[in-house]
This record gives sequence, C-alpha cells and structure tokens, in this order.
Amino acid sequence: MDIAVIGSNMVDLIAYINRMPAEGETVEAPDFKMGCGGKGANQAVAAAKLGSEVLMLTRVGNDIFAANTIENFRRHNIDTRYILKSEASSGVAPIFVDPESRNSIIIVKGANKLLSPADIEQAADDIKKCRLIVLQLEIPTETVYAAVEFGARHNIPVLLNPAPAQPDLILDRVKSCKFIVPNESELSLLTGMPVDNENDIRNAASVLHRAGVENVIVTLGGHGALWLNREGEEQRFAAVPVQARDTTGAGDAFIGCFSHVYVKTGDIVGAIEAANHYAADSVTRLGTQTSYSGHSPFLAGYPALADRI
Ligand code: RIB
Repeated sequence: MDIAVIGSNMVDLIAYINRMPAEGETVEAPDFKMGCGGKGANQAVAAAKLGSEVLMLTRVGNDIFAANTIENFRRHNIDTRYILKSEASSGVAPIFVDPESRNSIIIVKGANKLLSPADIEQAADDIKKCRLIVLQLEIPTETVYAAVEFGARHNIPVLLNPAPAQPDLILDRVKSCKFIVPNESELSLLTGMPVDNENDIRNAASVLHRAGVENVIVTLGGHGALWLNREGEEQRFAAVPVQARDTTGAGDAFIGCFSHVYVKTGDIVGAIEAANHYAADSVTRLGTQTSYSGHSPFLAGYPALADRI
C-alpha cells in the first residue's frame, strides 16, 4: 500500500452563481452539480486516479449519501475497509462558484467529527504498511495529532495539509511532519506571521523549520508554489497558465498528485513540479474530484520522473 489518507469526505453541493445573494434576498443560479468531495477524499481520489494504492480512513453518516460515497471510493480502487459508519449525518459542503471561478465553501462536518484516535488504532496494522500518511483538518484535531504521532512511532512520513485553517492547531504536536503544505493564509494562521510577500513567507516557514518540520510547501493559488526545507534550500515553481473555470479542490489535486509522485520516486522537487501542473489542469474543468485527470500529461516534460512512476 502506498498512501493512507486519514481524513474527511463530504458531499459537494455546488451552485454556479452569478453573484451571492444579499441578506434576505433570493437569487437564481444558472447551474448546479452534486459530487463527491471533502479534502481527504479528494486527495485520496487524485492519488488513486494517478495509480497509487490508497487506503482511506474516514467516517460516513447513516443517510442516503453514505452508500454513494463508499461506492465512489470503490470505483477509484481505494481500500474501503476503514470507511466507518456513524449515527450522524454525512459531511456536506454547499459550495458557490462565481463567474470568475472563485469559490466560497461551507462545510457541515457531520460524521467526520466522529473520526477518533481509536479508529486509527483499529486500522493500525494496515496503516503501518503505507509509505505516506496524508492528513487535513476536517476531522478532530485530536485525531490529527494521534495520526502524526502514529507516523512518528512507526517511521512513516506524514504530510499535513492544514486546511481549513484552524486557529487552535498546536504546532508543537505536528512538528514531526515531514511535509506541511499550507496555502498563504493557512501558513499565516499556523505561525502567527504575516505572509504579504515571499520574504514574509520565508520567515513564516522558518518558524515551522525551527519547530522541526522538514519541508514546507506553500501553494500560492494562481501564482504557483514555493518549497523551503530545513537545510535552507528553496525552489520557486511558477504558475502554469490556464483558463480557470472552477478552482474548487485545486489544492487537493496538488496534494494528491504530490503524494503519488513522491511515494513512487522520492523526488520532492519533481513531485511539486508535477503537482503544480496537475492542479492547474484541474481548474480547467468543473467540480472537485470530477476535475482530476486520470493520466499524467504533465509528466511528458519530465521523462526521468515518468520512467520511475
Ligand atoms: O478543498 C475542496 C473541498 O473542501 C470540497 O470538496 C469541500 O467538500 C470541502 O471539503
């Protein structure tokens, strides 16, 4: 098994709007799509579509959404033995995408709030066989800390995507992560530092490095990405120019692809380059998981990497 994703799943209810309604106002939106989402599930599906073997530890509710969510994981060849059921609603995410392809998301965590440290122990024997643990913050922080500690105890590298930003996340409890992959605002909240320019980002990342985090990869939306490691190496990845239609889930596409290429090759710079292209490609299509490609056209430019995957 390549990757264990310990995280959320949601049902995305995406309205493509002309504008947000004002208070007390009703406006008509031209289009709607329902799809499988949630940051954890999106990252798992992106990695699986690219060919990684993925185990998903998550919780669904006791409603009509659960069976479809499980079937979706199955369709993508994701190991569903640890998709656990709860007496709660499934997670849902009403999403609004405007004509400039910007999104606003509300999450109702539902069953995701019940994913517990004990659930990790239940899946321990299989998580131990994975080469990377991938985490986000749509599940209880205590479960995130337990997963980080599990990785440290069993010598499995951990990637934490600190999204959505959580003001109460304790840096000291996630400092053993090999990778922290925030966007600018998540980096700012995590470190309490401004991130108005690249120098600010460098200073904020060094807070994480001093705490012990090996690699900080900052995703910069339409401006590419920046990687900084504890040894002072860094590399800037330029944006890939595309015509964006829907940016929802682009960060998850980045992490799913990064995780896939990293576990297959061990090449951090190559994995970021690939992920940067993969995420850019995803925003040219509508939806979250539906926008993720199942092949790797971006690898054509990197034959040395493609050979190793
Ligand atoms: O990152 C995008 C995701 O955030 C959506 O799929 C939505 O479910 C929320 O979790």
